[in-house]
Amino acid sequence: MHMRAQTPQPTFINTLMPVPAKLTTDQGSFTLSSSFTVAAPHFRDERLDAGIGRMLHRLEYQTGVPITKDIQKDAAGAALVVDVQGAGEAVQSIDEDESYSLHVTSSGVNLQAKTVVGALRGMETLLQLVQTDHAGYILPAVSIEDTPRFHWRGLMIDSGRHFEPVPVIERTLDGMAAVKLNVFHWHLSEDQGFRIESKLYPKLAGMGSDGLYYTQEQAKEVVAYARERGIRVVPEFDMPGHSVSWFVGYPDLASGPGPYTVRRVFGISDEAMDPTRDSTYKFLDGFIGEMSTIFPDPYFHIGGDETKGVQWKGNPRIVEFMQKHDMKDPAALQAYFNQRLLKILQKHHKYMIGWDEVLNPALPKDVIIQSWRGTESLAAGAKQGYQGILSAPYYLDAMKPAEQHYLADPLPADSDLTPQQQTLILGGEVCMWGEQLYERTIDSRIWPRTAAMAERFWSPENVRDVSDMYRRLDVMSVRLEAFGLTHLTQEDVGLRALTGTTDIDAMRVFASVLEPVSFHERYQGQHTSQLTPLDHLVDAVRPDPPSRYQMEVLVQAFLKNPAQDGRERQELANNFASWSKAAPDVQRQVSESPLLADAAGRAQQFADLAKIGSEAVKYLSGGNAAPAGWKQSSLAALDAAQKPQGLVRFTVLAPLHDLVNAVQEK
Ligand code: ACM
Repeated sequence: MHMRAQTPQPTFINTLMPVPAKLTTDQGSFTLSSSFTVAAPHFRDERLDAGIGRMLHRLEYQTGVPITKDIQKDAAGAALVVDVQGAGEAVQSIDEDESYSLHVTSSGVNLQAKTVVGALRGMETLLQLVQTDHAGYILPAVSIEDTPRFHWRGLMIDSGRHFEPVPVIERTLDGMAAVKLNVFHWHLSEDQGFRIESKLYPKLAGMGSDGLYYTQEQAKEVVAYARERGIRVVPEFDMPGHSVSWFVGYPDLASGPGPYTVRRVFGISDEAMDPTRDSTYKFLDGFIGEMSTIFPDPYFHIGGDETKGVQWKGNPRIVEFMQKHDMKDPAALQAYFNQRLLKILQKHHKYMIGWDEVLNPALPKDVIIQSWRGTESLAAGAKQGYQGILSAPYYLDAMKPAEQHYLADPLPADSDLTPQQQTLILGGEVCMWGEQLYERTIDSRIWPRTAAMAERFWSPENVRDVSDMYRRLDVMSVRLEAFGLTHLTQEDVGLRALTGTTDIDAMRVFASVLEPVSFHERYQGQHTSQLTPLDHLVDAVRPDPPSRYQMEVLVQAFLKNPAQDGRERQELANNFASWSKAAPDVQRQVSESPLLADAAGRAQQFADLAKIGSEAVKYLSGGNAAPAGWKQSSLAALDAAQKPQGLVRFTVLAPLHDLVNAVQEK
């Protein structure tokens, strides 16, 4: 056995995500052992104790080192000192102090924060610092001073179009806390479902949800769970459009006669609440008052998007109202609705937040505009003095690579906003719309890409190295799985279900180079409704799997010097060989499963890509010319593989193009 004469200094491998505002490394490290103890010498409360307890459990789980859960008062002799000044706000606001500092030396760890929320953020960083020195687990000596760049760092989940059970929400909150997100925006009503119990208006969820809704107790449990993790919960009730599910039980709220049923198809509906009747506002006053007892956050999201006014224009009484009040279009009527809604919100001590469409000079400047239309729309709001958060580049259902989301900045360096206007940009929010997912598939759509966006919202603007982001994202992805997030495992579950067997080795290779098409492409290809089973290959595969970026990097490195018999050549050749080996099994399994019928073309193309890749590497490695016509037929095959088919697309076509184009022909 090889013996080491002396233990080498472990080098700090930075896998922190998000990257802290300031980090310096030092010599040495702190070794984790079963004598690890924690002290909280100053402030303590239940939330801090629970946070420390969760952190210690995770530390134990990560390292296998048994650790006492007792929190002592005396800092002397403690391995970790958690030095917190106070509880933080009773109801967390946008301005909550989330800063912390973390110092690791060979003798111990010191975590300081003004608030419990700051301490929670610091403990997540601490857990991400744990690394191995091969003998055991250590914390490298570092000094971190950290504070977020943006105050509003959110994730929206649409529970309206498909219901997401409480455990899904709670594990998502665990993931959010791990990457320091601080707002859970909960989209609770849609044309397709009203998802929370109202005791005042029991027919809302009673008739508008197919029985799939959160009880008030469950919603309170989620709010408490989020608060334990320093996360605000902002509920959204989309009004006056996207509201058919309200009308099933309460048709008088609508602008047309009804009756109504839960809308199964997606897209923009004609129906909308009737803004002309006092009874509408009386209803909403009661409802918002009731919801305020569940959601303590000062902000209340009223949606407001995509109301075209079709039902308004079809109702002579509403048309007459508009004429009488000199409202020239539906937008004017919606502005009137929002002004009346604002008074109700104010009565219940709530600020209004809504999508771009609510922007109207008639509204006060404490309204927040959430921009799904884009950076320009966001900037237009800021120029009028409105606070805003950016969401347009962070739509997960666009199925874009993490790097594209990552590089989109709520406040880009070249922004033309004045410094004063820039302060109005509060941050960003990742959006997970629910048309094409359900509880089994939501995790792989959210994670790990959301971790990259969380870094965009937290870390300094100049943290933009894509290669380094992907390196750390791979680590983060595995950490997230430890919370019970199913973004990795669910692919295998899906492949087993599709093939009806545990023998999925070949299908895994196939799936590793596939990803779902964008929301719009799927919508056109499948005409999904709420009733569409989400059980196809597109549902099993993950957006932006590691293959995409890895192949791109590998091919670029290989093409720099194809004649060299190096690691890149070997890895590429191995990759293509593994595809070739898998292809026949994939084709057989696909042909045997009716559920996979739409993947037959992709399976054939997978075999073609393997052959093209292997041949290209062979020609380039040996400096040999390909036979005449090889390039043309190979490029034609790549073009065919580029065409929409089976609702999935290959992740590796661009680097294959580069390989083929680099080959010389006879
Ligand atoms: C939206 O995407 N309609 C907010």
